[in-house]
Amino acid sequence: MRKVIGNFKMHQTPTQTKEYLLQFMSKVDGTKNEVVLCLPATSLTTAKYMVSGSNIKLGGQNICDDDHAKTTGEISGDMLKDAGAEYVIVGHSERRTKFKENFRTNNKKIKLAFKNRLKVILCVGENLTERNTLKMLESLKIQIEESLKGIYENELERVVIAYEPIWAIGSGKLPTNKELDRAVKAIRKVITDDFSEKAGQSIQIVYGGSLDAKNVNQYLKLNTINGFLVGGSCLDPLEFATIVKEV
Ligand code: PGA
Repeated sequence: MRKVIGNFKMHQTPTQTKEYLLQFMSKVDGTKNEVVLCLPATSLTTAKYMVSGSNIKLGGQNICDDDHAKTTGEISGDMLKDAGAEYVIVGHSERRTKFKENFRTNNKKIKLAFKNRLKVILCVGENLTERNTLKMLESLKIQIEESLKGIYENELERVVIAYEPIWAIGSGKLPTNKELDRAVKAIRKVITDDFSEKAGQSIQIVYGGSLDAKNVNQYLKLNTINGFLVGGSCLDPLEFATIVKEV
């Protein structure tokens, strides 16, 4: 079983989500994979009633890093949970770039997600400069260690690490199998060193960045990854259903 996560970003009104699900759900009925739709917060409640009883799970795309009610424009873990989310994305590179989030805020968000019984999809990935200067592994180590500071080993079963090289997001550029394998093994090593061998082997890792129904097959032989995170290509229900069925 693989995990296939769709990150809808700022796409879809609740009405469009309803139309999307009407097409998508019948196409993925019976899949052995776990499907997680990370929808805009305003679409979650609509989706919650539609996916109830199916193998489709829901996720939010962000959670506030403090739980003070006086935070205009933010969304809390209990709101996401009640609206139907089982997962929440933390630390997507777009949040880091546009909203100045960092690994300290990730850490707070993860703790608040756990407090609200949400699972976390933690995004990590190197930028182009780090890649070109061979600082990729160092960068991944810092990102993971800072984000997971103070997290207990038994909580890692509630974490999915999404390896998303920043240069691959929305760019049409993909890592080779060898590059991806190397990064995933490096992530497992960080978890092994900081927690245990067992944790390093069992942590769920998915790849994200420029995936589509045509190129996703190239990674199917990699048994080091547990699934995929799809951005742009999840917006077409038929294309995303093809991805879910093929992997
Ligand atoms: P992409 O986005 O698949 O469009 O590259 C992935 C992401 O941003 O999570």
